[in-house]
Amino acid sequence: MTSELERLFQHLRFPSISTDSRHVEDVRANAEWLKGQLEDLGLETGLHETPGNPVIVARNERVEGRPTVLIYGHYDVQPVDPLELWDSAPFEPEIRDGKIWGRGGADNKGQHFVHILGAEKTIKLNGELPLNVIFLIEGEEEIGSPNLVPFLNEHKDSLACDIIAVSDTGMVAPGVPTLGYGLRGITCLEVKVKGPTGDLHSGVYGGCIANPATAAARMIASLHDDDGRIAIAGFYEDVVPLEDWEREMWSKVPGTSDEDFLKTTGSPESFGEPGYSMAERLWARPTVEVNGFGSGYQGEGSKTVLPAEATFKLSCRLVPGQDPAKIQQQVEEHLRKHKPKGVTIEIHNGHSGKAYHNDPHSKFGKAAQAALTTAFGRDPVLIREGGSIPIIQDMKEILDADSLMLGLALPDCQIHAPNENYSVENFEKGIEMSCELLKELSKL
Ligand code: BES
Ligand code: MN
Repeated sequence: MTSELERLFQHLRFPSISTDSRHVEDVRANAEWLKGQLEDLGLETGLHETPGNPVIVARNERVEGRPTVLIYGHYDVQPVDPLELWDSAPFEPEIRDGKIWGRGGADNKGQHFVHILGAEKTIKLNGELPLNVIFLIEGEEEIGSPNLVPFLNEHKDSLACDIIAVSDTGMVAPGVPTLGYGLRGITCLEVKVKGPTGDLHSGVYGGCIANPATAAARMIASLHDDDGRIAIAGFYEDVVPLEDWEREMWSKVPGTSDEDFLKTTGSPESFGEPGYSMAERLWARPTVEVNGFGSGYQGEGSKTVLPAEATFKLSCRLVPGQDPAKIQQQVEEHLRKHKPKGVTIEIHNGHSGKAYHNDPHSKFGKAAQAALTTAFGRDPVLIREGGSIPIIQDMKEILDADSLMLGLALPDCQIHAPNENYSVENFEKGIEMSCELLKELSKL
């Protein structure tokens, strides 16, 4: 194994699950390790405390007149359950079939690490980096970056940059370099449906009072019409429509036909807003999804109970034009209006972030395209992404800089799920891409 791969494996062995407080020490240990890696490059590196997980910032000595690139990434990962569905232990990375298997491989350790290695290689080759580089690697992306906005505001001047580079997105197919120029926004809600004060015998009381699980199911079912359109009043009113040139361009992107998406997901049929391809629904149209739903008896066999409550978690993916606060209010009004008789509801609002969009043909976009072309030996495709990295829009507003999204995660990388994996080829070509990117950006 190369020493680069061995170091990535060290990174992947930290169970840095940000949403689970039992892992705070693991998260911190990972941050300390990362700091060491950046220090080894000779960069001035700081581990900055926040009310949550530390932020790592590393930089070379600033040279006036040179452009500045900020390279963003996150060292926190998603939980690993259901553990029994992993073919190998999530925090004991191994290579099989040309892939690195383990949590964080693609999202995001394997993807930001190529930039650290790209900088290292450049320094080894040329003695220095050809432009001003700032690494900003946080530990709370997977929980909505609650402490990064205040951090950015506080360090706005020292984080000033011309452009941001992020590898935390997808690549449409092996060997097809992909430049993302959009991300969907997000807003999350949690709904508690309450009936009687405690669980009841479903025979002794069933039929004369409302069942919170039924009420929750009815509210959830009211969110879409039978065709898959979102049925919340006003939900689409601010959506910036998809343009013809984009539809035309996307229709030619390899690996993203309806057939391809059905194959990767294993779904029997597509679903969603009529009049759009699956790629268009993913990249340019908003959603409401149920992410969790619980009520009543979940154990083996049957238990005749009328549950006292039900909860469900929703998230909406947003597109340019939509305001998360307004959407949250529309969803809330919709749920209150569709609340069946006999229950009460409590709605808790979770994290939010606006959609992000940039011009892939700007001088920076062209530099990114050139770097991808050199590293992968063919021109990149230009797509928007279905996923969200809310801090990218925040950085746009606070640092006034756009983000180049140089995605290295393949469609079958299984991020957020069991058997997350990262292609060894993309790891190697990613390092090349990072070297080229530094070179291309330094010319601007
Ligand atoms: N790397 C993903 C986002 C992503 C994945 C973008 C694939 C494009 C393609 C990121 O780590 C992530 O999972 N973000 C969360 C954000 C949320 C927790 C606020 C998401 O999209 O659910
Ligand atoms: Mn993620």
